[in-house]
Amino acid sequence: MPNKTAGKVKKAVFPAAGLGTRFLPATKASPKEMLPIVDKPMIQYAVEEAQHSGINEFIMITGKSKRAIENHFDSAWELEEDLKKKGKQAMLELVKKIDNLHFAYIRQNAPLGLGHAILCSKPFVNREPFAVLLSDDIIDPDDDLLGKMIKLYNQYEAPILALQKVPESEIDRYGVIAGREIRKNIFKITDMVEKPKPSDAPSDLAIIGRYILTPDIFKYIETSVPGKGGEMQLTDAIKAMLKKKPVYGFLFEGKRYDAGDKVGFLKATVELALKNPAVKDDFRDYLMSVLLRMQKEK
Ligand code: G1P
Repeated sequence: MPNKTAGKVKKAVFPAAGLGTRFLPATKASPKEMLPIVDKPMIQYAVEEAQHSGINEFIMITGKSKRAIENHFDSAWELEEDLKKKGKQAMLELVKKIDNLHFAYIRQNAPLGLGHAILCSKPFVNREPFAVLLSDDIIDPDDDLLGKMIKLYNQYEAPILALQKVPESEIDRYGVIAGREIRKNIFKITDMVEKPKPSDAPSDLAIIGRYILTPDIFKYIETSVPGKGGEMQLTDAIKAMLKKKPVYGFLFEGKRYDAGDKVGFLKATVELALKNPAVKDDFRDYLMSVLLRMQKEK
């Protein structure tokens, strides 16, 4: 059968309206998504991941006090002129707006949950399949998770969710699936529960913050009732959808950092610093010296 939708995932939705209370006071006046990991704001990692997978339309679901995100992905005319004048070409490349990328910003004006955030993107997504990236989940750029998911989407023409095995102690932080492995690391999902107690979890396979969805998800969100925490949960809408059509999970075995959590944020910072050519050597030496000091102090 010809693959009608091959290469058609061109849009990505980035829910970014949350208050970021876990990072207070840092997030009192600036968005959590703008917290820097090494030298880039957290959300830029997700944007670059999507861009690398061939996406060129970025739909940001924001809220009050999130203007910094908009400014960050816009051109900074004065800064660019200044760097040009001073001949600082390398820095100029870092801040220049990339011409063929399009950003749209939609305000989610009430904290009604992830399902509601996705629903806000409906007028921009229109009738196309689209990716969802939760920028708290930082994926190692070398692992190309979204690229692999888009390839699977092109093959199955059905929603694809990224999964990771998580320890029992963390299961209640995630949407958790039940499913049947149909090919290595590919699951046909049969059920899902948002943030279950470990005793109620259908497996140890958690949904992580990367999704490829089809536009019919909007009708399932529209008809869903408030779920866990009284919020409109994306998990509930996908669960309703999978009763009508196949939904697949891709078990990701690469590296992911939950930068929405303080320790996860620090881990992401360390790991990404160790990959950053500008700082990795000095930083590795420093980490080694810390390790030695800690061993001596033991
Ligand atoms: C959201 C989803 C959850 C998913 C998680 C991945 O939860 O509701 O199903 O497992 O993202 O990070 P949140 O982290 O926004 O509470």
